[in-house]
Amino acid sequence: MGLDVFFAKEFPDPEQHLLAHYRIESDEPIERAAMKIAAEESIGTWTEVKTTTTRVRRDLAAKVYNVKGRMASIAFPIELFDVQIGGIPSILSIVAGNLFGLRALRAVRLMDLEFPPDVVSHFKGPKFGVEGVRRMLGTGRDRRPHLGTIVKPKVGLTPRETAKVAYEAALGGVDMIKDDETLVNQKFCPLWDRLHEVMEALDKATGETGRKIFYALNITTGADRITDVAEKALENGANMLMVDIITAGFPSLQALAEDPSIDVPLHAHRAMHAAMTRNREHGIHMNVLAKLARLAGADQLHTGTAAGKMGEENEVAEISRINEMLRAPMNGLKPVLPAASGGIHPGLVPENVEALGRDIVLNAGGGIHGHPRGTRAGARAMRQAIDAHMMGASLSDYAEKHVELREALQLWGTRQDYRYA
Ligand code: 3PG
Repeated sequence: MGLDVFFAKEFPDPEQHLLAHYRIESDEPIERAAMKIAAEESIGTWTEVKTTTTRVRRDLAAKVYNVKGRMASIAFPIELFDVQIGGIPSILSIVAGNLFGLRALRAVRLMDLEFPPDVVSHFKGPKFGVEGVRRMLGTGRDRRPHLGTIVKPKVGLTPRETAKVAYEAALGGVDMIKDDETLVNQKFCPLWDRLHEVMEALDKATGETGRKIFYALNITTGADRITDVAEKALENGANMLMVDIITAGFPSLQALAEDPSIDVPLHAHRAMHAAMTRNREHGIHMNVLAKLARLAGADQLHTGTAAGKMGEENEVAEISRINEMLRAPMNGLKPVLPAASGGIHPGLVPENVEALGRDIVLNAGGGIHGHPRGTRAGARAMRQAIDAHMMGASLSDYAEKHVELREALQLWGTRQDYRYA
């Protein structure tokens, strides 16, 4: 069996294959390097083995079918995938497994995956999705971007202090308060005390404003414990749950999404994604992680900002494509609401909404709690920036009659390169 068995003579049937698209850097011709990936990730190894049967060779070889420049596509037969028990981890072990270390490649980046309907049908996806979350907040008609805040400092506050910040943000107009990705159950802010205090504060805020406000409680933990923690959180009044899906792993999220008793939206943070996504030559494109997060059941997912503190200047078009993919049809799975987070302040609202769309959560931490007059004014300034954008008004015009926005613009301007003084 030579490498030729890993090359397709005709275009593969997309119903019978999972299609994976790679960008490859190699001293060998790209076609040959891609065939080595196909071999390693299906039925081959570095040499021929006597144990390969005719059936295995005929039915289970992954095949390279399209090579253009450094891009190569590989069709993996659907039989290679076990979605019942292996699930997303086993899909990744194939399409994003050993290949990253192959010496024949200098670098390789998994750019995209196309799933056959039979694979997608094993996943339930988001329980609520864009429309479900909008329905809960009553924004289905006006379609404005949702406003979230990350409590800052990201760690250190006590439960009562956290609740006070949440209350102020709620009265200022946020739709969602979220824990930061590094806060779970540290001694200075135990999870259950925090949940109790924050929900009490938000109930009070709802009583005063008539608005529902989500609190995304960070329950990141292993898949073996996460549903127990989630159930306890729901018993104690949680109305949204958050998971760091890359550090915890997709199965932690999926376990929550597929548990019928967990009937609150799931907010997915992507901390650590950049270890895989940032290097443009090697690793995994965020597009792939976002598709997997949708399969696993994220209702909301961090995908990046058009202007902010994270990522690269030239990736706006890519983020926008990821967001479109998350909202587009996918074999009956509900659309995911993308979240733009990291360095957002009122002056960056128009740029982010124009580039990323209105079906989005704009999260601001420093851009709310760093307002000269504090959290409530900071949340108001963000809402005013959103309102201005929805009305088609410029921020500077709107700021003439809205003091909180004016003060925010005076402090941060409309640029993304604000630094500590
Ligand atoms: C996040 O979770 O995205 C960050 O904590 C955002 O915080 P920032 O708005 O202060 O940059």
